[in-house]
Amino acid sequence: MDKLVIEGGVPLKGEIRVSGSKNAALPILLASILVDGEVRLTNVPNLRDIATTLKLLELLGCRAEYNDGDVLLHSCDLKPEAPYDLVRTMRASVLCLGPLLARLGRARVAMPGGCAIGARPVDLHLKGLEQMGAVFELESGDIIGNCDRLKGAHIHLDFPTVGGTEHLIMAAALAEGETVLENAAREPEIQDLAEFLNACGARITGHGTSIVRIQGVESLHGCSYAVMPDRIEAGTYLVAAGMTKGELTLRDCPVDALDSVIAKLREMGMFIEGDRDLLTATVDGPLHCVDLSTRPYPGFPTDMQAQIMALMCVSRGAGVITEGIFENRFMHVQELARLGAHITLSGQSAMVRGVDTLKGATVMASDLRASACLVLAGLAAAGRTDVRRIYHLDRGYEQMEVKLGAVGARIRREQE
Ligand code: UD1
Repeated sequence: MDKLVIEGGVPLKGEIRVSGSKNAALPILLASILVDGEVRLTNVPNLRDIATTLKLLELLGCRAEYNDGDVLLHSCDLKPEAPYDLVRTMRASVLCLGPLLARLGRARVAMPGGCAIGARPVDLHLKGLEQMGAVFELESGDIIGNCDRLKGAHIHLDFPTVGGTEHLIMAAALAEGETVLENAAREPEIQDLAEFLNACGARITGHGTSIVRIQGVESLHGCSYAVMPDRIEAGTYLVAAGMTKGELTLRDCPVDALDSVIAKLREMGMFIEGDRDLLTATVDGPLHCVDLSTRPYPGFPTDMQAQIMALMCVSRGAGVITEGIFENRFMHVQELARLGAHITLSGQSAMVRGVDTLKGATVMASDLRASACLVLAGLAAAGRTDVRRIYHLDRGYEQMEVKLGAVGARIRREQE
């Protein structure tokens, strides 16, 4: 198993190119099951979750080729079964269920289990698909679904679930008649998925708002599409500039999708200026802790909660971070404490009191964003920090140690 070894305390300086978005690429890859023809995607990040998805697509009968950020896909000989081994390693793979039902009228997909950050059920996905005419039963831990052609429906989501919204948009794209999704999630990755499907001939409007309308079509055709850049990767590097009192410029940064993050970093005292082509983050003087709550988009993203907590650990004063999306997303707190952070947990809130310096230690990553938070803390800490179990990082950050190394970080990958 690999670990990252970081000698902290170096201000980062230079330019980082933001990679394609993992959370946009995953649903777009799985949506290609719906397409009758060749799909060519560009700006697909080279990540473990992407490799897992391509493997799943191949098992489902799609031809998939990955070459340096470009993916060619053709779903020519679809099979309806997604095995547990793959679904277990990546929750998002459950998103193949709706597209398989829409194309084949049947599907067998392993029920995703819980994960480190909470129970994460898929009940809202299944309820919506049922309203469109699918019938489900559970057998040996697998969801078995059957349907005639799916039918458009009026679906109100109890919670604006990101995956659920994506799943239902995909299924509705080939359904008979109109589907209206109310209380839909508005995340930029959902907009990217809808724009990809529209480029394939789907008729989706209202994506990016809480009411999405999908007029079903008979079939979708192939297209070429560039995946949006990754707002969470970009946000993580903005925090890295703050943590190290450095100056980082991001190329291809989805600035609009980062409004809530940039606003909080400015409130803490960072200077962030520029646009999508070049966005520069600098620090001039001490940063200050703030209060924040994670919320569905356009609120502050839960996927940036751990990273901004790392920044608050080395800022002045105190601030309260409330996690409003997942019930168990504070596992990085104990590890930050090993580096000398002062954090008090109370239910879904964490009170952070900034300290002058963190001190290097060996820490263990528990999930993807927690891993990023520990790397950030290591960059600021005095001395050596070993971040173990970084396979989580490889799921979601493209060449993190290479990108950070190129802007001055003393960071290397070692085998344990
Ligand atoms: C996606 C992102 C993830 C991000 C999250 C919230 C991908 C691949 N993952 O995850 O990085 O942290 O959005 O922004 O894009 N819920 C239910 N029933 C359901 C579905 C969800 O109760 O059927 C609950 C979940 O348990 C969770 C909350 O809703 O508490 C949010 O989940 P959701 O928005 O669905 O997140 P994901 O799509 O899993």
